[in-house]
Amino acid sequence: MNDTPSAYNGPTRVFSGVQPTGNLHLGNYLGAIKNFVKMQDTHAGLYCIVDMHAITVFQDPKELKASIREVTALFMASGLDPKKSILFNQSKVSAHAELAWILNCVARMGWLNRMTQFKEKAGKHKENASVGLFAYPVLMAADILAYRATHVPVGDDQKQHLELARDIAQKFNNDYGALKQGCENFFPLPDPLIQGPGARIMSLRDGSKKMSKSETSDMTRINMTDDADTIAQKIRKARTDPDPLPSEVGGLEGRAEARNLVGIYAALSDTTAEEVLNEMGGLQFSEFKPKLVDLTLSVLEPINHRFVELMNNAEEIDLILADGAGRAAEIADPILAEVKELVGFV
Ligand code: TYM
Repeated sequence: MNDTPSAYNGPTRVFSGVQPTGNLHLGNYLGAIKNFVKMQDTHAGLYCIVDMHAITVFQDPKELKASIREVTALFMASGLDPKKSILFNQSKVSAHAELAWILNCVARMGWLNRMTQFKEKAGKHKENASVGLFAYPVLMAADILAYRATHVPVGDDQKQHLELARDIAQKFNNDYGALKQGCENFFPLPDPLIQGPGARIMSLRDGSKKMSKSETSDMTRINMTDDADTIAQKIRKARTDPDPLPSEVGGLEGRAEARNLVGIYAALSDTTAEEVLNEMGGLQFSEFKPKLVDLTLSVLEPINHRFVELMNNAEEIDLILADGAGRAAEIADPILAEVKELVGFV
């Protein structure tokens, strides 16, 4: 990890968020949560359950509440420690919404019009999408900049949103920061941390599509709360091709499904595709898949057990979120106050 990016000279701080919509899956874990856990011993971090992002598409209120608690429990079951890191839900810290408004006035329509995730999510019915869905990446920039976060661990699909956050930070610095001496680099330009073979986990049924909560078939993904039999069945039925595994990465060319399973193996075992193929090259999928099942279960089963224990105590989860929100607000509120001053609010 680079030191603090750009000319900004404040402290290094990590921020990331996960939406509480439906089940979290192996892609969320390998692309994001696993990296949060790795970073928490070395970097001050805030990990946010972004409930305000969730409602950009209608959510059943009861399910949303349950899902916020579930994601919190999954964070902790995966190893995030609420004493080391700040765990909280976005709607509890009003600085996110307040800063988002100000940044809505900095971001340009043309920038948002380029966002591929909006185009994918709104589909053919753009006129029917919520205004919130369009402005979604600006709220995301506010999440990060409210803490002057310098590093943002995410999966590959969030890269474009992070680039936008940097553009917004830069324009705020130019428009407002430059008006006051010493504030030229008011916001850092946050660095995306998109790491390793877990950064882009694909569907088990189609290696050209990413693993996603919104895919209709449950067989396309491994949910973090799936039981052992379901996980084994999904991996057994994962699409592959008839050839054995190659012994070098070059041999995965044009074999998206094979590449994905090797990538999952590498991410789960903290190795690389090269290392996996060194060991497994030449195996048929009928031989490789049982090894992948065993490895997946060895990682997910302990998480699942802790998750079930934590979910038995919803009150404790709510207390952790409330405590996290208090600590988050202590960081964000003075930054927001400075922003308001720079903008000219009385
Ligand atoms: P969300 O909730 O869709 O996903 C949470 C995290 O999981 C990663 N991810 C994946 N990684 C690898 N392979 C996949 N198939 C896969 N699917 C999802 C995502 O990249 C993400 O890191 N907009 C964000 C949430 C957000 C946020 C933020 C993130 C809101 N504010 C501020 C960082 C900083 C989102 O919808 O993630």
